[in-house]
Amino acid sequence: MLSIQNLEVKYGAIQALKGVSLEVNEGEIVSIIGANGAGKSTLLRAVSGIVPCASGTVTYAGVPIHQMPPHQIVRRGLIHVPEGRRIFLDMSVYENLLMGAFTRKGDLTADIQKVCEIFPRLKERFSQRAGTMSGGEQQMLAIGRALMAHPKLLMLDEPSLGLAPFLVRDIFKVIHDINQMGVPILLVEQNAHMALEIAHRGYVLETGKIALADDAKNLLNNPAVREAYLGGD
Ligand SMILES: Nc1ncnc2c1ncn2[C@@H]1O[C@H](COP(=O)(O)OP(=O)(O)OP(=O)(O)O)[C@@H](O)[C@H]1O
Ligand SMILES: [Mg+2]
Repeated sequence: MLSIQNLEVKYGAIQALKGVSLEVNEGEIVSIIGANGAGKSTLLRAVSGIVPCASGTVTYAGVPIHQMPPHQIVRRGLIHVPEGRRIFLDMSVYENLLMGAFTRKGDLTADIQKVCEIFPRLKERFSQRAGTMSGGEQQMLAIGRALMAHPKLLMLDEPSLGLAPFLVRDIFKVIHDINQMGVPILLVEQNAHMALEIAHRGYVLETGKIALADDAKNLLNNPAVREAYLGGD
């Protein structure tokens, strides 16, 4: 579905991605783990068209998208929940959800209802200003808003960041459920353990390069990965 080949991204003199290749297939959860500054967010930004690709290709469903502006990529159903959520703080929960569906016309009642089944908390807070929600609630809203766009591929950047452990489990459960509904997911996470447990496959990104690519189970059992990313136990 999504195929990235030899992708390079530069921020001025800094080369954040140095020839990254990866794939996400139909139905998969693919996790990218890596240290701070490894280039994980940059990779998602490049796929979304937010940062330009210096070289390499990104194809989605057989179509090259690496030259497309972000709005055209969104229209193809590649939906990105960025690091730090980026919800509209001054809008209500309900308005935020509607914004997620800006690419579509027509009745959104059924979509809103579906998101509320996944996140009952959001339904209780429809009229609350999003900026006054807790961190975990804001993350639910960010994912709920992304679902309103009918993602064909969902990219999540650090969805568990800053959440209490029980909320982290909730968020991972939701990610699993969304995938079960047929949505492939490209997941970037600091929480390497959870990210690999939930994933089919995983990639380890080190300073802009893929250091390892394997089935998630194999990565979980890989001594080098355990040492560097899973606390060594
Ligand atoms: N707008 C920018 N201008 C210059 N350098 C940048 C910019 N954005 C990112 N970088 C640099 O690119 C590298 C990769 O950053 P990126 O945000 O992709 O890392 P990351 O793996 O997501 O890290 P983290 O785990 O901390 O979120 C870092 O060295 C960072 O400083
Ligand atoms: Mg990041």
